[in-house]
Amino acid sequence: MHVNAKTDIYGIIGHPIGHSLSPFIHNAAFESVNLNSVYVSFDVHEENLKDAILGIKALGIKGINVTVPHKENVMKYLDYISDEAKLIGAVNTIKNNNGILEGYNTDVTGFTESLKEHDIVVEGKNAVILGAGGAARAVAVGLSLTGVKSIMIANRSKEKARNLSNYIKNNLGINCIDVTYDDLNQLEEIDILVNVTSVGMFPDINLSPVDESIAVKAKFVYDIIYNPEKTQLLSYAEKHSIRNLNGFDMLINQANHSFKIWTGMNFNKNIILNTLKKKDF
Ligand code: ATR
Repeated sequence: MHVNAKTDIYGIIGHPIGHSLSPFIHNAAFESVNLNSVYVSFDVHEENLKDAILGIKALGIKGINVTVPHKENVMKYLDYISDEAKLIGAVNTIKNNNGILEGYNTDVTGFTESLKEHDIVVEGKNAVILGAGGAARAVAVGLSLTGVKSIMIANRSKEKARNLSNYIKNNLGINCIDVTYDDLNQLEEIDILVNVTSVGMFPDINLSPVDESIAVKAKFVYDIIYNPEKTQLLSYAEKHSIRNLNGFDMLINQANHSFKIWTGMNFNKNIILNTLKKKDF
C-alpha cells in the first residue's frame, strides 16, 4: 500500500482498541479494490470523544467505525442519524459526507444478512438470546425486524435482561420476555439460539453459556464469538448435528456494510474471510 498526499483516511475509535480486527479487514478490502485509502485505530478516551469527532471534520477523515464504549454517546455529535441507528440507539459507522457527519448502524444488518445468506428462516420462529449487552441489542432488533415470533432473553444480570426485553417490546412490538438461565430447562424446543455473551471466548474456550442439555433443544445455534472458530457451545451443536454459525459472518457482513456506506462498493467477502481466517490472533 502506497500512502501519499491523496490517501483517504478511515479508522475506528474505541477504548480499548488494541484487539480490533477492523483495521485488518478494511485495509485488506481497500487493497482488494485498489482504493488509495488506509484504515487506522484511534484509542479514544471518553473525555476526548467530542474533540475526536470534531477532528473527523477538521482533518477530513472520510469514515469512522465506532466501538465500545462510544456507540451511544457519539450520537449527540453527529449531524444525521439513520432510522436503524435511531431504533437501536447506537452508531457504529460514521460517514463524513463533505463535512456532514452521518451516523449508521451496520451491526443489525450484519447479523440479519448472515442469517439470510445461510437460508435461516426467522419469520414465525421463537428465539432465545443469551446476553443483554450492546451486541445482544443488535441481535434482538435484527430478529425483530425480520419477523421473529417471540424472543426470550436470558442474562446473568437480570436487570439488563429486563431492560432489553422491555426495549424490544415497546419499540418493536415483539413478544419479548426476560428469563433466567434456569428457566431454559423448562423449554422443549428452541427454534433459534443465539449466544451474544462473551462466555466461551478465548482464552476460556472450554466454557459454554449453557449446558449441552439446553443446546440440544435448539434447531439452529448462532454463536457470535469467532475466536475460537468453534466454541464449546458450537461443539455441542455439531455433536448433535444441529445447524450452526460462528461470529465470522456477522463480523464480515457488518464491515462490508460500513465499506459500502463509505465507498459505494461491496468487498469480496470470501477473499476477506479467508485472509482473516489465516490470521493469527
Ligand atoms: P457487547 O457489547 O459485546 O454485547 P457487553 O455489553 O459487555 O458486550 O455484554 C457482554 C455480555 O456477556 C453481557 O450480557 C454479560 O452479562 P452481564 O450483563 O450479566 O454482565 C455477558 N457475560 C460476560 N461474562 C459473563 C459470564 N461470565 N457469565 C455470564 N454472562 C456473561
